[in-house]
Amino acid sequence: ENAYEFFGAHQAGITTPVQEHLHFAAFDMMPRTDRDDLITLLQDWTYAASRMTQGLEVSATGAVGGDAEVPPDDTGEALGLPASGLTITFGLGPSLFQNEDGDRYGIASRRPESLERLPAFLGDDLDPQTSHGDLCIQACADDPQVAVHAIRNLSRIAFGRARLRWSQLGFGKTSRTTSDQATPRNLFGFKDGTANILADDTAALDESVWVAASDEPSWMAGGSYLVARKIAMLIETWDRVRLSEQDTIIGRDKGVGAPLSGGDEFAAPDFGGSAIDANAHVRLAHPSQNDGIRILRRGFNYVNGNNDLGRLDAGLFFLSYQRDPQQFIALQRRLSTDRMNEYIRHVGSGIWAIPAGAKPGSYVGAGLFD
Ligand code: HEM
Repeated sequence: ENAYEFFGAHQAGITTPVQEHLHFAAFDMMPRTDRDDLITLLQDWTYAASRMTQGLEVSATGAVGGDAEVPPDDTGEALGLPASGLTITFGLGPSLFQNEDGDRYGIASRRPESLERLPAFLGDDLDPQTSHGDLCIQACADDPQVAVHAIRNLSRIAFGRARLRWSQLGFGKTSRTTSDQATPRNLFGFKDGTANILADDTAALDESVWVAASDEPSWMAGGSYLVARKIAMLIETWDRVRLSEQDTIIGRDKGVGAPLSGGDEFAAPDFGGSAIDANAHVRLAHPSQNDGIRILRRGFNYVNGNNDLGRLDAGLFFLSYQRDPQQFIALQRRLSTDRMNEYIRHVGSGIWAIPAGAKPGSYVGAGLFD
């Protein structure tokens, strides 16, 4: 059964083959916490994550091995379940470095210059209830119970130091990170992840995903930046759009996923002629139209029940990893004329610095406190 190494040069959950399920959570530090609280939280989270990703309980005594007169360390719902490909990826938000209380954790001077709340984009309709956060955790697994167990127990461990601000469940990956994964489909019914950066493309990862040793600040070397966007899809409207128009909006054909300029799914799109609309999503998002900018996409579908009008509250929980937040910002600005915008609304947003992976015996984010 699938268990991924927790410790390593990079955090797992970025190039790891995309799992089937997501539980994403954003946290805020509690008032009056100090630098030691933050450090011990990251240490405790690292320890628990290093165990859960191997299919173990959060501690040695776990759910039923401890004193029967106290609440168990582990909540127990993953007892008997394998690791299920669980990855747990930790991120640090801009508000952790600087907030109303000034420099409470003594890290303001170490904030990456580009780690700032994202600028407002045309058409943004952000809900503060599903945006931002001092810290984030991306838990991905092939079993939803395992992903939820991870977030639940990490929230519990954070008690008194950080509290859950918002969280989102996702299912059905909308991207792939290895060439042997078949391209999945998003809720518009289109293949998603065809032109993604893949795990074996080390040149592209070094160029576009991992922070280099020569980048600033040096404690971020081997890390990345994560952008999350909760993008609601107006799927009932979309479902009344003619197939040919759907193809035009995306710039690819729905069945095979091939660019409308011809060839198979993996053929390079040809933007020379008029086959691909001037405002088709893939044209505007393509590196050739954006000074070569690329990002690693790792999003998931979501459905949060339905609204009063009987419409599904559904969409794409977009997650992208990039070496610098500017890559996302430039692409998102370019998408301002995207034909797809009529059918989507960005309702949640966040950005986090993703430190490099921890060495055994150390913890995620240790470099920040050196
Ligand atoms: C490609 C859907 C939002 C960036 C694609 C493709 C689809 C798609 C179907 C073509 C297949 C592929 O290469 O993966 C969507 C949907 C979105 C969404 C349904 C929102 C609900 C975004 C956002 C960004 C983005 C917010 C970045 C700001 C890209 C990029 C590509 C792409 C970079 C690859 C372009 C290429 O190299 O050919 N998207 N997308 N997408 N999308 Fe999106």
